[in-house]
Amino acid sequence: MPEEVTLTIDGKKITAKIGQSILEAAEENGVYIPHLCALQELHSTGACRVCMVRIDGRYSASCTQPVSDGLQVEVESDELLEIRKMIVEMLFAEGNHFCPCCEKSGNCELQALAYRLGIDSVRFPYQFPQREVDAEHPDVFIDHNRCILCGRCVEASRNADHKTALEFIGRGKNKRLAVTGIVDLDRADKAVSVCPVGAILLKRQAFQVPLGQRRFDHEPIGAEVESRNPEVRTP
Ligand code: SF4
Ligand code: FES
Repeated sequence: MPEEVTLTIDGKKITAKIGQSILEAAEENGVYIPHLCALQELHSTGACRVCMVRIDGRYSASCTQPVSDGLQVEVESDELLEIRKMIVEMLFAEGNHFCPCCEKSGNCELQALAYRLGIDSVRFPYQFPQREVDAEHPDVFIDHNRCILCGRCVEASRNADHKTALEFIGRGKNKRLAVTGIVDLDRADKAVSVCPVGAILLKRQAFQVPLGQRRFDHEPIGAEVESRNPEVRTP
């Protein structure tokens, strides 16, 4: 059985390993597909839908769709850009994201994605939900105002840290992250470092890297992927 398959992304042929997702194969070939919940080494849950592409004409999350031979994948189109922008705008409208006073500013993937997608305002009404900050843990804050329910920390706690210290509780608009209380969260836990926004923050660590010198202050999100293939750039 072959170990590699050939598919096209925006008309360009790429090879990919069997078992890879379309998102992984794209990244390996220097094509950045915006995403917020998928993370290398973690199982993709398909929670955010930001990584939406068209595969043989059908819309699908690229992080959960495995590669197969002959697929035609569309990543860059006005329509897909519009879908991504709408999803990111909805995330901003649904939570309380006040970037200028967030410790994660400059390192935040949601903020960086908004810049990359050219979002300068949100077309949906802000919900301003009433949510608390959980500061009980000695080492970690959990700010539910900023949580986009991506599930990275839950996956990391379960399958990388093997602790299941974080879980989702509730349904629909009442869904929220909860510390299970069975085991401690530790600052060494992967679950603490994978949050794409400022919803899980280490105490006593704020502003150690000054604003202006952070990950996305000098290059846009996705630039490290595109540096593998400078000819490709996805809006
Ligand atoms: S706390 Fe962060 S990593 Fe965890 S679900 Fe919320 S946004 Fe995702
Ligand atoms: S990155 Fe694919 S659904 Fe979130």
